Amino acid sequence: MPATTHREPNDLGPITAGVPAKFRGARLAKPGVVESAAPTPPEFSFNLKPADIARHLNRFVIGQREAKKVLSVALCDHFQHVRLTLEGQTAPFYQKQNVLLLGPTGVGKTHLIRSAAELIGVPFVKADATKFSETGYVGGDVDDLVRDLVRRAGGDVKKAEHGIIYLDEVDKLATRGESGGRDVSGRGVQTNLLKLMEDGDVPVVSPNDMTGQLQSAMSAMRGGGAAQPETINTRHILFIVSGAFSGMTEIVRRRLLSGSSRGDEALAEKEGKGQSLLTSAATADLIAYGLEPEFVGRLPVRVACHGLSEEDLFDVLRKSESSLIHQYERAFAAYGIQCVFKDDGLRRLAQLAATENTGARGLMTICERVFRDFKFKLPGSRVKRFSVTAKMVAAPPAELRRLLAARG
Ligand SMILES: Nc1ncnc2c1ncn2[C@@H]1O[C@H](COP(=O)(O)OP(=O)(O)OP(=O)(O)O)[C@@H](O)[C@H]1O
Ligand SMILES: [Mg+2]
Repeated sequence: MPATTHREPNDLGPITAGVPAKFRGARLAKPGVVESAAPTPPEFSFNLKPADIARHLNRFVIGQREAKKVLSVALCDHFQHVRLTLEGQTAPFYQKQNVLLLGPTGVGKTHLIRSAAELIGVPFVKADATKFSETGYVGGDVDDLVRDLVRRAGGDVKKAEHGIIYLDEVDKLATRGESGGRDVSGRGVQTNLLKLMEDGDVPVVSPNDMTGQLQSAMSAMRGGGAAQPETINTRHILFIVSGAFSGMTEIVRRRLLSGSSRGDEALAEKEGKGQSLLTSAATADLIAYGLEPEFVGRLPVRVACHGLSEEDLFDVLRKSESSLIHQYERAFAAYGIQCVFKDDGLRRLAQLAATENTGARGLMTICERVFRDFKFKLPGSRVKRFSVTAKMVAAPPAELRRLLAARG
C-alpha cells in the first residue's frame, strides 16, 4: 500500500500567484491556522481576481464550490468598491453585498472565512453572535465590533470604515418562530446590527469606556496629534454572517409542499439531485426560523454549504493543507516518532467520522479515540515509527500491543 504523499506541514510554498507581496505578510504558522492579523493591515491595493481567491481557498477547504465562488466574488466586489471610493469615485447608490452562509455543522463555514481572512488586506474582525446582548451589559455591544476594526486598523478610522466584519452563529439570534430561539434579547441584537449593516455611525470611544472617554477628552484639550474622526461610519463595511440553522430544511420542505400544487415535484427533483434543501432557503424561511425581516433583508447574498460525504472527509484528511493528520504527525514528531498515514487508514477514519454526522468535526472525535493510547504510551518507548492502516484504526489497542511487544 503506497504511503500518501503530503507536503511538509510548514512548507506551504508560495501563496497563490497573484497575491501582492504585501499580502503575504500573514503567513500561516501551521496549516490552516492564521497567525493573528498584523496590527496594521497593508495599504489597499487589491488586484486579486475571484478565481485567485477560490484557488487559495481550495488549498484548505474541500468541496463547497458554490460557497467559494460566492465568497470570492463578494470579497473582490468589496475590494473594488473600496478602491474606487478611495480614488474619489463615489457611488451614491452602491448597495452592500452582505453575505449569509448557511449549512450544517462542521462543514467548513468558519473554516472558509478563516482561510480567506489570510488574504484580506482590509481590517477584519470575527465574533460569535452569541456573545452579544441587547443592552451590552451582560454580553458585548455590537458597536464594539466596529471599534475592534479600528483597533485592527492600528487606530486608522478611515481604514476601519472599509473593513469586513464576520459574525458567526447568527442562527442563535433567532427568537420566536420555529427555531425554538434563545430569548427576546436575540431580536434586540438583530435590531442593533441593522444600523451597522446599513449606514450607521459608531462613536470611536465607547460611551461605557470611562478611561477611553477621559483619554480622548484630555487629548482634545491638549490639541495634539492629527485630528481623528469621533465616529466611524459603517456604510462601506462588509458583513459576512453564518450559521448552521439546524431544522431549516424542515421549514423549506414544508413551504415547498404547501406552496403550490407542484410542490412535491419540486421537492422530489431537488432531493433526487441530492441537493440540500438549504440551497432553497428563501427569505420567508429565514423569517419563519425566527430572524427579523429587516435583518434578513440586509443579507442579499446567500449561499448554502453542503454536508460532507465520506469521500469528502477522506479528502479533508488527505488533501487539505489544514488536515488534522499534520497535527498528529507533529505531535508524534515532537517525541522523535514518525507517524505514517496510509490511504486505507485514512479511508477507515473517514468512514467512522461520517457516521458521527458532525461534518469534519467527526474526524477529530474519531482520531482522538484512535490515538489516545498511542499518544500516552509511545513517547519514551522504543517505537520510533508506526503506520496508521485500516487494521490499526479498526483495533488500536491490539496494534499498540503488537508495536510495543515487537520493540520491547
Ligand atoms: N470542507 C472542509 N474542508 C476542510 N476542512 C474542513 C472542512 N469543513 C470543516 N473542516 C475542518 O473542520 C473544522 C470545523 O469546521 P468549521 O469550524 O468550519 O465548521 P462550521 O461549518 O463553521 O460549523 P458550525 O456551524 O458548527 O460552526 C475546521 O476547523 C476544519 O479543520
Ligand atoms: Mg462555525
